[in-house]
Amino acid sequence: MIKYHAETRTFFLHGRTTSYVFRVCPEGDLEHIHYGKRVGEDDFSCLVPASELSFSPVPPGAVRQGFSLNVMAGEYGGYGQGDFRTPSALIARQDGEICSRFVYRGHRFRAPDFGDLPCARGGETLEVELSDLCSNVLLRLYYTVFEEDDVVCRAAEFINAGQSAVTLRRAFSFAVDLEGGDYDVFRLAGRHLAERTPERTDLGHGTLEICSMRGASSHQMNPFGALIARGAGEDEGECYGAELLYSGSFSLRFERGETERVRISGGIDDTNFSWKLEPGERFITPQAALAFSAEGLGGLSRRFHDFLRARVIPKRDVFAPRPIVVNNWEATYFDFTAEKLFALIDEAAQLGVDTFVLDDGWFGKRNSDKSSLGDWTVNEEKLAGGLAPLAERCHRRGLKFGIWFEPEMVSEDSELFRAHPDWAIGKPPRCTGRNQYILDFSRADVSDYLYGRMAEILSRYGVDYVKWDMNRHMTEFFSAALPADRQGELQHRYLLNVYALARRLKKEFPDVFFEGCSGGGGRFDAGMLAFFPQIWTSDDTDAYERAKIQWGTSYAYPMSAMSCHVSVCPNHQTGRTTPFSSRGALASLGATGYELDLCALTGEEKGQVAEQIANYKKIARLVLEGDCYRLSDPFKSNYFAMMTVSKDKSEAYAVGMTALAVPADFSRRIRLKGLDGRGEYLVEELGVKFCGASLMNAGLSMPRLNDFSAWSLHLHRVG
Ligand code: DGJ
Repeated sequence: MIKYHAETRTFFLHGRTTSYVFRVCPEGDLEHIHYGKRVGEDDFSCLVPASELSFSPVPPGAVRQGFSLNVMAGEYGGYGQGDFRTPSALIARQDGEICSRFVYRGHRFRAPDFGDLPCARGGETLEVELSDLCSNVLLRLYYTVFEEDDVVCRAAEFINAGQSAVTLRRAFSFAVDLEGGDYDVFRLAGRHLAERTPERTDLGHGTLEICSMRGASSHQMNPFGALIARGAGEDEGECYGAELLYSGSFSLRFERGETERVRISGGIDDTNFSWKLEPGERFITPQAALAFSAEGLGGLSRRFHDFLRARVIPKRDVFAPRPIVVNNWEATYFDFTAEKLFALIDEAAQLGVDTFVLDDGWFGKRNSDKSSLGDWTVNEEKLAGGLAPLAERCHRRGLKFGIWFEPEMVSEDSELFRAHPDWAIGKPPRCTGRNQYILDFSRADVSDYLYGRMAEILSRYGVDYVKWDMNRHMTEFFSAALPADRQGELQHRYLLNVYALARRLKKEFPDVFFEGCSGGGGRFDAGMLAFFPQIWTSDDTDAYERAKIQWGTSYAYPMSAMSCHVSVCPNHQTGRTTPFSSRGALASLGATGYELDLCALTGEEKGQVAEQIANYKKIARLVLEGDCYRLSDPFKSNYFAMMTVSKDKSEAYAVGMTALAVPADFSRRIRLKGLDGRGEYLVEELGVKFCGASLMNAGLSMPRLNDFSAWSLHLHRVG
């Protein structure tokens, strides 16, 4: 709910339990007042007196003694008029000056047009229009309130209302200056095969930046960050989170300044960003979702999960049963024939798998990662008869047929590159990454070509599922199609056309299910989730490593977004052997599937596959819709445990794993969370009943386990 009090010129943005409050101060600037637990609609002006601070410039038009933008808690940082903290926008005029001061012009209730950018569905949007006193640019700040989810989405739009061009050198989505306190910053860092490792550090004075300059949101740093009150933990204490609906280079900054306030701001990374605005032109930023929780990081995660499921992930897919997949990548890599795949399809059908996904290597002359990206025609030498017999075999056996694409890439050794060398980003000599170049998606002819190739394959073979991969990061940021003064637009234009292609294909093929991937989880973000309801979480399929990766991912993203497969042992990434049952248990905490040669399994393992699938079908709704609780942190202990509880608390599913067996480990209980304390639950696997409060407060004894053994429990409320 959004309320405006004209007498005090104050905006109240209320969620179910939170309030975000700001006002137009006497000088006309927007002044942040409160973000946190819900408050009344009072006159808060006495909370924000202007007070003098040495070396804080007084801007023109100050009406209060000592007023300085350097001291004010703001809603969007200007530059060059005395605010020495991180500017939210840098606008260069034709005379070369960069200076901005944004003052209130008016407001209305209206959602903007995000063009090709993903945006959250629904909500109530406030548009506050400000004029830049230093240029002829109008700034519109958008606040979309999702009352039920307790989330506020922010975005900014720039309109050149002058007679000459200006250049945006930075255009962040949001900024907010929170009251001072002792805070830590929490982020999800990592690398390929080890994505989203949680890290919490003290925010001292200065700026802590979370960013990617790779043209993709990246394995290395996720576009999610949180500011946590020092005493807060998993289940208690105050924290603020910010998550960008964006999949490219980004920046999130946490800045503690001399007033002790903390400015959180962010959006598109500006290391190599600029956007030229001719008179009358506009630029809109990606959305940033902000959430506050007084129930620790656990509460914050559940807020984001609910928001992403209700507002971002495609409605049609979000709660629909997910395909149970067998993917041939780790089973065959590039070395397959139609016969090999037929056998895999037949076995999959027998075991209850419902989708076969043909991974990399089916096109061009691709027998290794050295060639053919861009040549999206079937490799008939390898697949006698082409794709049709495979698709038909799947459909005859009752399986869906899925296929892998890496649309954004081109191999040097490809027909496409030989025909269009200027379609690759950069000028020679260029870096390669996995022997490939990146296609210049800022060009419409490039994305149109890809649309044509993909649409042809999807319609000709009745494809039901697409895995969309992206296996390198950007270098040599140059487009042959952009003029010199627009080269800084390349990365953002690239992404807009990637989103546009995904949107166009989804619209044209509404029944096709799209999974995202980027060398595992290299583009696991809320922008991608707007098109891809699930994303391949990591190329690391080792059950123990996956426990950590899925744990880390859950801070920002729901279980249903994580694509998780059982793979073979010794594991291809770590060489580790873990029990088949553990691999199944871990993979059941997401969109499950198999990534191995089902034909090569022992009879016992095949039995386990059938059981795992049957079990998954029983708990799938909990994975899709439930509230996620983290129970035991595998980064800090020998034990991993997580659970999901249905919204009505009638059912729950918990999975745990012991890393290394510990002798005489007799007294180790696991306390469950999120249950109905007064309810009585039957623990299916143990055949015992417990009161919810007992399960949460006394806990259950964890079974004594061998190395990397897992357990799973399915609970039903019976009283
Ligand atoms: C990286 C992906 O993460 C893998 O699952 C697989 O699809 C390979 N690419 C294929 O090249």
